[in-house]
Amino acid sequence: MEAVKAENLTVTYRGYVAISDVTFSLEEGTTLLLLGPNGAGKTTLLKTIAGIHSEYAGRVLVFGKEPWRARENISYVPQSHTLNESVPLTALEVVAMGALYRSGFLHRKIPEEIEEKGTRALKFVGLPGIQDKLFRNLSGGQKQRVLLARALISEPKLLLLDEPLSALDPSARAEVTGVLRKIKKRRGLTMIITTHDINPLLEIGDRVMLINRRMVAFGRPDEALKDEIIKAVYGPMARAIKVEDKLYCITGDFHVFKRGGGR
Ligand SMILES: Nc1ncnc2c1ncn2[C@@H]1O[C@H](COP(=O)(O)OP(=O)(O)OP(=O)(O)O)[C@@H](O)[C@H]1O
Ligand SMILES: [Mg+2]
Repeated sequence: MEAVKAENLTVTYRGYVAISDVTFSLEEGTTLLLLGPNGAGKTTLLKTIAGIHSEYAGRVLVFGKEPWRARENISYVPQSHTLNESVPLTALEVVAMGALYRSGFLHRKIPEEIEEKGTRALKFVGLPGIQDKLFRNLSGGQKQRVLLARALISEPKLLLLDEPLSALDPSARAEVTGVLRKIKKRRGLTMIITTHDINPLLEIGDRVMLINRRMVAFGRPDEALKDEIIKAVYGPMARAIKVEDKLYCITGDFHVFKRGGGR
C-alpha cells in the first residue's frame, strides 16, 4: 500500500506558493530523504503530510486518507523542538507526552502502562536509566533521541522528522543516525526525513526527493542524486561523487546551508 501519495500538490500560505505541483508516491515501509536548500519547502511538505497545514490544492493522501484523518498513524518531530524548557519535565514525562496527547488529556501522574512503554522507548533509543533526568539538562543528541522515543511511543505507521541532525555536533549526529538506522530496521514503518546533511543518512534512504519549490528529482538515491540534478538545486559548485561505490554529495559550502537555521 502507498503510505503517502501526492498529486499535483501545491501548498500555499495565504496565497504565497511555497510548493508547486508536486506528484509522487511512497510505498509503505520505505524511508524518504527530503532534500533542498533553505526555503525550498521541505518543512511545508512535512507539515502538509502531517495534516498540520492544510492550505493546498491538488491531492495528498496518507494511507489512503486525507492527512488530518490519518493523524493517529502519524508522528511528527518538528525542526527545532518547541518544548517549553522552563517547565522542568523529566525525560520520561516528555516521552509520555507522545502517548498522552493522543488520549486528549494530560494526567498529573503518568499511567503505569505508559510509564512502562516510555521506559522501553528510552531503552530503544539507547538511553536506559535516563527517565528521571530533566529534559532541559540533556545534551543535544540525547534530547533528539528522547524526542524520537516520544514520537515512537504512539506506534505510528508514518514518522516525519524535520532536520533531526541539525544543530548537533558530529558525535551526537552519529548517535542519532544510529537510532534512525535502528528504527528503520526494527519497525517496518515509513519515514520521511528532511536533512541538509545527506551523507550520514544516505544508507537508510530508500528514496530521495530534491525540491526547490518544485520537485526536481525523486527516485532511488543513485537515480536522484546525479551531478547535474545536484547542481540544478544547489548551484554550480555542488556535486555528487562516488567513492568506492559510496555516493557522497558535496553541497555544504553555500550560505543557503546555514546549519541549524530554521523558522
Ligand atoms: N507560516 C508561514 N507563513 C508564510 N510563509 C511561510 C510560512 N512558513 C514558511 N513559509 C515560506 O514558505 C517557503 C518554504 O518554507 P519552508 O520552511 O517549508 O522551507 P524549508 O525547505 O523547510 O527551509 P529550511 O531549510 O530553512 O528549513 C519559504 O519561502 C518560507 O518563507
Ligand atoms: Mg525547514
